[in-house]
Amino acid sequence: MRALVLKQDSFRIEEIDRPSMGPSQCLVKVHYAALNHRDQWIREGQYAKIQLPAVLGSDGVGIVEEVGNKAEEKWLGKAVIINPNIDWGRDNRFQAKEYQILGMPSFGTLAEYIVVDMDRLYEQPDYLPMEEAAALPLAGLTAYNALFNKGKVQKGMNVLISGVGGGVAQFAFLFSIAVGANTYITSSKDSVIQHCIGLGAKGGINYTQTNAVKDLAKSIGNFDLIIDSACGDGMNELLAALKPAGKFVFYGATRGLPKDLNMRLIFWNHLQLLGSTMGSDEDFFKMLDFCREHKIHPILDRVYNLDDAVAAFDRMKGNEQFGKIVVEI
Ligand SMILES: NC(=O)c1ccc[n+]([C@@H]2O[C@H](COP(=O)([O-])OP(=O)(O)OC[C@H]3O[C@@H](n4cnc5c(N)ncnc54)[C@H](OP(=O)(O)O)[C@@H]3O)[C@@H](O)[C@H]2O)c1
Repeated sequence: MRALVLKQDSFRIEEIDRPSMGPSQCLVKVHYAALNHRDQWIREGQYAKIQLPAVLGSDGVGIVEEVGNKAEEKWLGKAVIINPNIDWGRDNRFQAKEYQILGMPSFGTLAEYIVVDMDRLYEQPDYLPMEEAAALPLAGLTAYNALFNKGKVQKGMNVLISGVGGGVAQFAFLFSIAVGANTYITSSKDSVIQHCIGLGAKGGINYTQTNAVKDLAKSIGNFDLIIDSACGDGMNELLAALKPAGKFVFYGATRGLPKDLNMRLIFWNHLQLLGSTMGSDEDFFKMLDFCREHKIHPILDRVYNLDDAVAAFDRMKGNEQFGKIVVEI
């Protein structure tokens, strides 16, 4: 089968053996995969415990072609979406030590076929075309956990989603709009801000401008909740934009660590800083349910062919995208 293979000195489409399957597993013919920044971090060698060769890709939808035991034959021919969690563990609040994410070390979705455990399969939401469904798994789950479990978002709250052009951030934005929160956004791209205002954002600002967030916050009386994945030196400006007892939920640190953090501002205003990762299997189920109920359509940036998958990665590296980058396999 054809797969995008990452090795020490190459990253290209190669012919590799089709994976073999155990009795509690199934073989899925992947139709669409989608990229997450995790894939690009691994490509750049900036991720923990990298094992090569690797087939990256945590997001995938496809058709079940073989199952490992007769009791599961009802799945044959079904369109499925794959839960990228492997061994989340018993506590829904945080992942177990053994936890892994599909697509390194296990081979991921950027290949013609993938073998996964049967309990990773969910029926593909039928209101969505396959290429849109492929965008949901990792980013939808991360946004769901950050916004609902950590942020406790509610209708009428002032919510800021930073860097809305990102794969996770656009889901946080779409989910926040769907629950009726007053949703504001930041981006480095004015066109993205305008697009999101068209989709229901109350306002937005370009974070590359000086005092951008400060000015926006002042004009609306500050935020109850900020969802961020950049951190770095922009963090103090974001924290100052929160109301007393406001929440800052972060699931990444694209800009790295802040040089200093305004601790006085945090304790005096009873601010809550909450770290978040993807989410439990139960969250994955709830996220799919939420998307079905609210007919969430992921924002897709572009759909690439597998042959052009390296160019898709380069687009993410250059921060050129708005929404999810999808790869047709
Ligand atoms: N902990 C977890 O489980 C988990 C899960 C998913 C992601 N993450 C992490 O979260 C981050 C985003 O992931 P992703 O897959 O959504 O990546 P992505 O699709 O590549 O999006 C990254 C976005 O970050 C925004 N950004 C860049 N610099 C920024 C800044 N200074 N201020 C605000 N926003 C900025 C950009 O938004 P604009 O284009 O609008 O400027 C960009 O589109 C990555 O660091 C990733 O590793 C962690």
